[in-house]
Amino acid sequence: MGGVPAVRSVYVCQQCGAESPKWSGQCPACAAWNTLVETVVSRAAPTTPAARARGRGAGPVPVGPGVISPIGEVESAEAGRLSSGIGEVDRVLGGGFVPGSIVLFGGDPGIGKSTLLLQLAARLAAAGHDTLYLTGEESAAQVRGRAERVNGVVSGLGLVATTELETALGAIASAAPALAVVDSVQTLTSAELGGPSGSVGQVREVATRLAELAKSGRTCVALVGHVTKEGTVAGPRTLEHLVDAVIYLEGERLGSTRLVRAAKNRFGSTDEVGVLEMRGDGLVEVADASRFFLESEQPPVAGSAVTIALEGSRPLAVEIQALVAPSGAGSPRRATTGIDVNRVLMLIAVLARHAGLNLTGHDVYVNVAGGLRIEEPASDLAVAAALASSLRERPVRSGTVLAGELSLSGRLRPAGRADRRLAEARRIGFERLVTGPQREHGRPRQAPDGLLSAPDVRAALALALAEA
Ligand code: TYD
Ligand code: MG
Repeated sequence: MGGVPAVRSVYVCQQCGAESPKWSGQCPACAAWNTLVETVVSRAAPTTPAARARGRGAGPVPVGPGVISPIGEVESAEAGRLSSGIGEVDRVLGGGFVPGSIVLFGGDPGIGKSTLLLQLAARLAAAGHDTLYLTGEESAAQVRGRAERVNGVVSGLGLVATTELETALGAIASAAPALAVVDSVQTLTSAELGGPSGSVGQVREVATRLAELAKSGRTCVALVGHVTKEGTVAGPRTLEHLVDAVIYLEGERLGSTRLVRAAKNRFGSTDEVGVLEMRGDGLVEVADASRFFLESEQPPVAGSAVTIALEGSRPLAVEIQALVAPSGAGSPRRATTGIDVNRVLMLIAVLARHAGLNLTGHDVYVNVAGGLRIEEPASDLAVAAALASSLRERPVRSGTVLAGELSLSGRLRPAGRADRRLAEARRIGFERLVTGPQREHGRPRQAPDGLLSAPDVRAALALALAEA
């Protein structure tokens, strides 16, 4: 292995930080189990200042004056953002890829990460920015096959099939593309570490070296990882602090909706959500995201209520469906998709206590249409209305949307940015929004036409449900 710099690796306990020369199941210092992770400690010639700062490099780090730049003369990292070619992805990135940054794209296997990144690489290449797609997971021929499906056979897009980190780094450094996709972080291994690909030590080394490379030039590195929010061993917690942004691709595997969200973004907000649909020719932007999560046509049927949720700066009309049915023997079932079951249990209790709607003895199912997951408490009122509507077999009044948080006392709090929500509701054909009392500087406010306010759940349901 002549030419390869001398490298030493040790096993560092993730709990107490102690170093051991060999791997073992238990840390000899603090006795924690399975905490030792292989880490490079010395490399003959540290490649970048960042590497030196991390304490690689065998000798002491030389102390110098550093380079002082007047802030007015420093080019902003935001300068020269590259549009990814897919507006919904740009929205989540904060306006496009930032040159010299590294972004982790996570998500369950099979959700569409490779498809999305190949499409992004192809769009950028077609726009005149050279891109490189490094695949350790599939052969170049397989990637070519996918590229044919997604209209991605374009000049300016190069493929490299490798599982060696050093080869990948060399290819990126020599091609200096605008975007380098590394698919995936789990399949690359550094020859400098003994551990297998996908181990925590390897994954971290791969991400660290790619981050250094990105920072040293203008290439943006998009790192694909099979990681879920819950996180596996080599999951986001290992990688999150090494990258500039973490973007998750989510959705139900069998449904076609895919949501793009940022869990971390040094260059933008983490509130934005992008909506894509998986088709036969790849991921496409949906024409009108706000209408996308509305399943039923108007007029509404019993058991359905629409809320306008705010996902980041974007209002989305979302249909909540509830089914309330007499239960058989035993304790009644409560099941939900797309919403926290505990929140629904609370709303069932609030309805019983403050609206005279008793659901004991009924099975309750609540579903958020379109595969969306909602966390905003302002969806409470629509859930309560869907439940009441199903129990009473009376639909919500035609043209009505609901938004507001319910407290345990049955009081209704107004949804934030109610005017914005009403405007969106109107745009897509609704007429009124039922929400909590409108106040301005502590005083009741003259609400615009179409904004109906109710102080509590009982009054809100009276406004929202059609006459019997
Ligand atoms: P893939 O991008 O390979 O997922 P990941 O990299 O996250 O593991 O996508 C896998 C699924 O997407 C696969 O089941 C097939 C489907 N698919 C489409 O529906 N349309 C397409 O155009 C492509 C390329 C894939
Ligand atoms: Mg893949």
